[in-house]
Amino acid sequence: MKTAIYPGSFDPVTYGHLDIINRAAKLFDKVIVLVSVNPSKPNCFFTLEERLDFLRRSIKSGLSIQHCGNIEVDSSDGLLIDYFKERGADVIIKGLRAMSDFEAEFQMALVNKDLFYKAETVFLAADVASTFLSSSMVKQIAMFGGDISAFVPPSILTDIKIKLEQKRLEITGKK
Ligand code: PNS
Repeated sequence: MKTAIYPGSFDPVTYGHLDIINRAAKLFDKVIVLVSVNPSKPNCFFTLEERLDFLRRSIKSGLSIQHCGNIEVDSSDGLLIDYFKERGADVIIKGLRAMSDFEAEFQMALVNKDLFYKAETVFLAADVASTFLSSSMVKQIAMFGGDISAFVPPSILTDIKIKLEQKRLEITGKK
């Protein structure tokens, strides 16, 4: 039984993440999607509860996930490697969109392996359609009223739009 952990901020989950989850679920017996803390992004826009809920709803809606029976969604506020050991996992999954992702991801893979020699990181190349896609882009487009329906599933679209519209009103002083 091979368990993979796919960690990230997921602020919010996009079709790019869901593509990686879907493909990982075909490759491994179990996939744990782990909402983790990225110290470089201390101010996530969506709360932890919202990010977990968006992930669970997106996976359940099954639009881009074919094998959701072996997918679990969880969170951790500690070191990824500690969670990895606790769960007896085999592999860390990371998606790579472009060479610009590579340096930081490569460094994290080496650090995790150094912290625990059994921690292998497997990189999945992003789907071509997702190479330009990021949670930050989605948030920015939605904040200014743009159409994000091509980037996030319908089950979470409205919630994302409402919260970002509120943020836009706050920023522009209209609220
Ligand atoms: O989606 P992100 O923000 O690129 O994901 C980065 C994340 C959350 C996977 C990374 O920051 C992480 O692993 N955080 C947990 C804390 C940790 O273990 N840090 C050391 C990584 S070498």
